[in-house]
Amino acid sequence: MPDYREVYEHHADRYDTLVSHEDHEGNLGRALFELMGERSLDVVETGAGTGRLTRLIAPRARTVKAFDAAAPMIDVAKQSLPSVEWGVALHDALPVPDASADFALEGWAFGHALAWNPTGWRDDLQRWVRELERIVRPGGTLVMIETMGTGVATPFEGGHSLEPFHAFALETLGFSHRVLRTDYAFATVDEAAQTLGFFFGARLITRVRENGWTVVPECTGLYWRQRADAVA
Ligand SMILES: C[S@@+](CC[C@H](N)C(=O)[O-])C[C@H]1O[C@@H](n2cnc3c(N)ncnc32)[C@H](O)[C@@H]1O
Repeated sequence: MPDYREVYEHHADRYDTLVSHEDHEGNLGRALFELMGERSLDVVETGAGTGRLTRLIAPRARTVKAFDAAAPMIDVAKQSLPSVEWGVALHDALPVPDASADFALEGWAFGHALAWNPTGWRDDLQRWVRELERIVRPGGTLVMIETMGTGVATPFEGGHSLEPFHAFALETLGFSHRVLRTDYAFATVDEAAQTLGFFFGARLITRVRENGWTVVPECTGLYWRQRADAVA
């Protein structure tokens, strides 16, 4: 597997190409719109990367502030969505006033903690969720999106490193969840293997080629909960 920090610091364009092939059926956007409802919302996103989720939610938002630790990712994001307030910031300390957002989200970012901080990831997650709660108004919504496996048609098929994240999100953090298919689509098997292999490594390349996939199955967990009454 690649060094993901290296990807975010030095290959932001390539990452953006990868995610442009994801969720070709548009399931994630529809599910997020359901959570957002009809009102126009103030949205804050952390770990926004090159803005893949930001682009989805912006049409339904009144304001969007989006942050990421990696400046090169934000530089790519800015090009497609200049109206968003972009910034370099960590999940721990978002430069956003208390109780100023209706909807706070992260996608495919908190899950890195399990690999990057194997003994302290639970503390990380609790701290990051508290930060989302700080910035959300009472009744506002917190959202996390994390993978349940790429190259699989059912969640965590064959085992996955984020299974503990899933259990912690439900049992300790009190989130609800649903499973979405966010399959990738490509013109050719070669394009699928090369584009996905860069991020997911040799095992997925082999599976793509063995199965002759131009549509590569992927399962994604959408986790949400309302802001608790009291911020711990
Ligand atoms: C897999 S990418 C997801 C990006 C984007 N949310 C998307 O859906 O494409 C993970 C992102 O999380 C960011 N990230 C990782 N740790 C972070 C932290 N502690 N604070 C802020 N951003 C972080 C990385 O720089 C990277 O852009």
